[in-house]
Amino acid sequence: MSRCIAERPVLPYHARAMTDAALLAARWAHAIAAVAWVGGGIFYLFVLRPAVTNGALSSDSARAATERFGGLVKLAMWTLVVTGAVLFFSRISEPTATARYAAVLALKVALSAWMFFIAIRRRRRIAEAVAVRPGRIRAIAAALGHVNVVVILGIVVFLLSDVLRYIVEQELAG
Ligand code: HEM
Repeated sequence: MSRCIAERPVLPYHARAMTDAALLAARWAHAIAAVAWVGGGIFYLFVLRPAVTNGALSSDSARAATERFGGLVKLAMWTLVVTGAVLFFSRISEPTATARYAAVLALKVALSAWMFFIAIRRRRRIAEAVAVRPGRIRAIAAALGHVNVVVILGIVVFLLSDVLRYIVEQELAG
């Protein structure tokens, strides 16, 4: 910790406090968005989708839930991109940004981009399933098949985020 602080540019106290507060806010929003997206996906897979496929849920409820979840995912994606960029530039300018850190971060960004790509592409398919064939619950359930892949990628991205933090802690410990 002391090594990192010693190597930082010297800022007036209030400027450093503001930067730290902004980074804390970015980290907090990043974590909430990640939990909302991946946690929402897990809820979809293990709770909502079984209810849709076995007919326990009406088509209206399924459609409303699908549309609302789509909106939540969109908000989560924007939040992750904006706050992820803030964390990226903050971390990469620290002395703890070793080659190992950069490699894990690059992998994390690549998997995140894959998640964004799948989610954006499939949002259109879900919209079609909801609008064109409103009565066909199975069409909605099928269109939600991609949630599997997004959830698996999201769980791996969570692990990589923990690895990043672990690397930083190791570097700080010397
Ligand atoms: C544009 C893509 C993204 C970028 C550039 C990015 C960047 C970062 C960076 C630099 C950190 C700090 C890691 C450290 O402790 O050194 C971080 C933390 C984290 N990221 Fe991302 N990230 C992105 C997308 C995602 C996605 C898609 C998820 C999950 C679905 C995610 C989940 C997390 C979590 C859980 C943390 C830990 C937050 C904390 O410590 O409170 N990130 N991210």
